[in-house]
Amino acid sequence: VRRLTVPAIAKRKGGEPIVMLTAYTARMAQLLDKHCDMLLVGDSLGQVIYGLDTTVKVTLDMMIAHGAAVVRGSYRAVVVVDMPFGSYEASPQHAFESAARVMKETGAAAVKLEGGVAMAETVTFLARRGIPVVGHVGLTPQAVNALGGYGARGRSETEAATILADATAIADAGAFALVVEGVVETLGRRITETVRCPTIGIGASLACDGQVLVVDDMLGMFERVPRFVERFDDLAVRIDAAAASYAAAVRERRFPTEKQLYL
Ligand code: KIV
Ligand code: NA
Repeated sequence: VRRLTVPAIAKRKGGEPIVMLTAYTARMAQLLDKHCDMLLVGDSLGQVIYGLDTTVKVTLDMMIAHGAAVVRGSYRAVVVVDMPFGSYEASPQHAFESAARVMKETGAAAVKLEGGVAMAETVTFLARRGIPVVGHVGLTPQAVNALGGYGARGRSETEAATILADATAIADAGAFALVVEGVVETLGRRITETVRCPTIGIGASLACDGQVLVVDDMLGMFERVPRFVERFDDLAVRIDAAAASYAAAVRERRFPTEKQLYL
């Protein structure tokens, strides 16, 4: 099976919805690969894998280690690696150096970065130098300290206009896809109708050209999840039950059994 390509994804505007999930490990990538068009090595791994409180502390080395694992575990999906906070904002040149490391050391097809008008020049700089870029606007978790929380964005007319301008700037700058996170339904629709590239929504409405979720949220690994998450399983409950069964079997000397013994 040949891997899907960035141009193939870019052509999906208004077409068959783009299916994207996050992945952080090789085995999970292997399991998700045949179902997804794109796998995102999200900096959400800060919370999901490392127990950090925000994505602000995630490092480029962390992203590269997990990015390489996801590329090794997948063979069909386009793998996108998040640029972590502090690795791209200072200048287009700095962004290129960080993104080039991601591309060389992971084998991923593209990077994703957060931001709007202020990042447009950087998106163009990378895209013109052979690094495909996915944008990310609306609720941008790396800006949590500036935004003051993770509430939905675009409720006021002025905020909606700012986010639409951000989306347009990033798409016009050459992003081949745009993640739109945590915005009111009308704005998700409006952005999708306005920008030239496919939009991938997470809490941004059915109108988007695709959808993405954090895989651990979707699997029901956490008690508390944002409103935009649908739990397609309840893995936390099932893992709890499995661990309880194992613990009881060990304590009651019912494990190992004959089947597991080297005779
Ligand atoms: O880090 C992440 O998982 C993301 C998605 C939620 C879009 O950026
Ligand atoms: Na992210």
